[in-house]
Amino acid sequence: MKKHNQNEIERRRTFGIISHPDAGKTTLTEKLLLFGGAIQMAGAIKARKASRHATSDWMAVEQERGISVTSSVMKFNYRDFEINLLDTPGHQDFSEDTYRVLTAVDSAVMVIDSAKGVETQTRKLMEVCRMRNTPIITFINKLDREGREPLDLLADIEETLQIECAPLSWPIGMGKRFKGTYNLYKKELNLFTPGEERLGRGVVTIHDLNDPRLDELLGDQADELRADIELLEGAANPFELEEYLKGNQTPVFFGSAVNNFGVREMLNAFVEIAPAPGPRATETREVSPYEDQFSGFVFKIQANMDPAHRDRIAFLRVCSGKFTRGMKVRHHRIGKDVNLSNATIFMAQDRANVEEAYPGDIIGIHNHGTIKVGDTFSDKEPLKFTGIPSFAPEHFRRVRLKNPLKAKQLQKGLLQLSEEGAVQVFRSLFGSDFILGAVGVLQFDVTMARLKDEYGVDAVYEGVDYATARWVACEDRKKLEEFEKRNQTNLAWDSEENLTYLASSEWRLNYVAEQWPGVEFLKTREHA
Ligand code: G4P
Repeated sequence: MKKHNQNEIERRRTFGIISHPDAGKTTLTEKLLLFGGAIQMAGAIKARKASRHATSDWMAVEQERGISVTSSVMKFNYRDFEINLLDTPGHQDFSEDTYRVLTAVDSAVMVIDSAKGVETQTRKLMEVCRMRNTPIITFINKLDREGREPLDLLADIEETLQIECAPLSWPIGMGKRFKGTYNLYKKELNLFTPGEERLGRGVVTIHDLNDPRLDELLGDQADELRADIELLEGAANPFELEEYLKGNQTPVFFGSAVNNFGVREMLNAFVEIAPAPGPRATETREVSPYEDQFSGFVFKIQANMDPAHRDRIAFLRVCSGKFTRGMKVRHHRIGKDVNLSNATIFMAQDRANVEEAYPGDIIGIHNHGTIKVGDTFSDKEPLKFTGIPSFAPEHFRRVRLKNPLKAKQLQKGLLQLSEEGAVQVFRSLFGSDFILGAVGVLQFDVTMARLKDEYGVDAVYEGVDYATARWVACEDRKKLEEFEKRNQTNLAWDSEENLTYLASSEWRLNYVAEQWPGVEFLKTREHA
């Protein structure tokens, strides 16, 4: 591979933000974009969120397609780095896509609200990160408010998420007494002035904590800081790059996103320690980003909600080689060569007419429903990337057709929508009903609206008493048959004919799993 291309890969950072709604993801995203000079985009992110709060009508929001699509991938430059921030939809938009986006990143930033600690959605997203041991940097937000004690927060993260914390900065007070942070590695004091957006001012280098300047600047809080640091030196884990890269340890920063405090500090560490695009597993071998051959996989499909434009955009992460507009690539699942002339290459705002993309970058491929989530594209070699699975749904609905003559359309619509990853479709072993499964409930509204618009299907949902699902596997055929016979009422086929157990509760699932040793209950399933 050419030196130029190598440099392009090494300077790329592709990441997502994991957080619970209201922890400050939108605010942090906006500040990061501002540091990268993507001012217009930062405005759009905020506007999008505002309109979302004002209306629960998701379609109206989605119709502002420009914003919705561009915010899926936010590219910006910072120092010598080219950063791809992939949106992880939250709030009403929380869906299986949110999980799947995390299969396309090289690292993640976790935002925690200092008053709330680890919350449910963060826990779920962290589970997904764990599947690939994704390295995670933690940003504890809202230090300008009264929150929990820093040590208590670290203990919460360590216990709830089973990851070691290594604080790289330490807060000085909180709420009204919040004075800033002390960077434990650079040995710098970052001073906080409320209401002032900081862009790197207010940094005082203090190598020796006994320096009397500390007392001048912090008053009686200087001694508190000294005591904290002494305690940390004995109790906290030292930062170890290798452990971070393996996903065993998370470096922790404290700050206040809305005040733009601590954000640059974190961003500087992020570009320095977060991994550049790395090798990816396929069914046959590992693919290095430095290979000359182009390859990539589709992790998300976004339909156009505007009925006048029925096209879809498939988001493909480049894994190796170099993408150039108009290049011919092979779509392996259907065995066809396609010319990618009308691909969208997501680019930073300050660069126009980009015609190429490198590993870590995302390109959008327009299509009319030919592309499925999990599809691989490459030069020639038949490859199939793994690790872009379906995730066990947590919400369920039964579909009841109002007009039985539309049964065919319903079937076709559901098959396509499930291939796109919009919703999961199950058919119970006995009975012919379709049961839909989703990770976020909005997926049901989207599905129904699209069934009506695109397939002319008039249907309604009925509640159904399932709370969780697992794909079933068992090496012993006889045992599997026996299991099937005894659990018919809870079993279903998914759209790719995989056996799935639908349970009315976590408790019930665990109980059945205990009764059937040797039968595996899987939380994810790879696409065919
Ligand atoms: P999200 O995307 O994770 O859902 O969170 P978002 O950034 O929208 O932040 C949620 C709320 O928390 C917002 O307030 C935001 O202003 C506030 N916030 C974010 N960072 C900080 C911080 O460092 N300190 C404090 N005190 N608040 C913070 P909101 O009232 O819902 O919206 P807005 O009217 O302020 O935009």
